[in-house]
Amino acid sequence: MQNKESINFNSIFSKIYCELEKTDDPGEVASYIPELKNVDPDKFGIHLITLDGRHFSFGNSDEKFSIQSIAKVLALVLAYKLEDEKLWERVGVEPSGTPFNSLVQLEYDKGIPRNPLINAGALVLSDILVSHFDDPKNQFIEFVRKVSGIPEIDYSSRIADSEKSTGFTNAALVNLMKSFGNIRNEVDVVLDFYFNLCSIEMTCAELSKTFLFLADYGVCPFNNEKIISTSKSKRINAIMQLCGFYDEAGEFSFKVGLPGKSGVGGGIIAIHPNRYSIAVWSPRLNKKGNSIRGMKFLELFTTETEASIF
Ligand code: DON
Repeated sequence: MQNKESINFNSIFSKIYCELEKTDDPGEVASYIPELKNVDPDKFGIHLITLDGRHFSFGNSDEKFSIQSIAKVLALVLAYKLEDEKLWERVGVEPSGTPFNSLVQLEYDKGIPRNPLINAGALVLSDILVSHFDDPKNQFIEFVRKVSGIPEIDYSSRIADSEKSTGFTNAALVNLMKSFGNIRNEVDVVLDFYFNLCSIEMTCAELSKTFLFLADYGVCPFNNEKIISTSKSKRINAIMQLCGFYDEAGEFSFKVGLPGKSGVGGGIIAIHPNRYSIAVWSPRLNKKGNSIRGMKFLELFTTETEASIF
């Protein structure tokens, strides 16, 4: 293994990009949310930030995209901070092995989602945040701005409205959980919060900065602000490792070896604890809803740098 401080990530990015250009596995952009269809499928961006403040970027790293399910991790951070261990009475920590929007386990499990990163789990997080705040959407985005140190981060009403127009499966999930008593607020209020959560837009540079505190045991290294305890930060990374890619979590762990989270906008965030956070964006998805080139890039990246958490 190279001395980690001497690695030139930029040359590794270019080398891997050339490799990816030779592969032919195009995939499709997400189309079930109408607005996501309008994204150029060939965009490709990377941004890596080390804990000592070095930045490395490649391609379309400064273009905003819809972070979608990646935002579920930020909802988890805030809900865990507010609820402490009580949170686990309403949502589990087990990999689901099912698609992100699956309904099938919820009935057997009496309305308790397997983990916070599948849609059912993130809907419970949304319900919890709606219960805690007077002005949930504003208070949540203020939290994201604080964690990222970027006051301009915002929701996209265009994406949120588009998802609302086709969000029937999410409506079914909330209703089923409400029937079991695991949703305390009005269904429409919870769904509105959730669709906005998924609509947040960031660039790769912003995304990697936002998640850097999870590489630093809960502290934002750029301003030393403690966002969450060391123990909670470690556990959130554990949940990403096991559940961040739905029924492809094993594949990501096997090939990449870092905790991470994907979104159907084509973004992936991955964390190397004590070293860096890296965001990758490539909108073409595989059948499981994960970015094909994003996953392949990270596999080649941890192979080339000979460093993962294992
Ligand atoms: O609930 C949905 O369908 C989306 N807003 C979020 C899905 C998502 O990003 C799943 N990720 N891979």
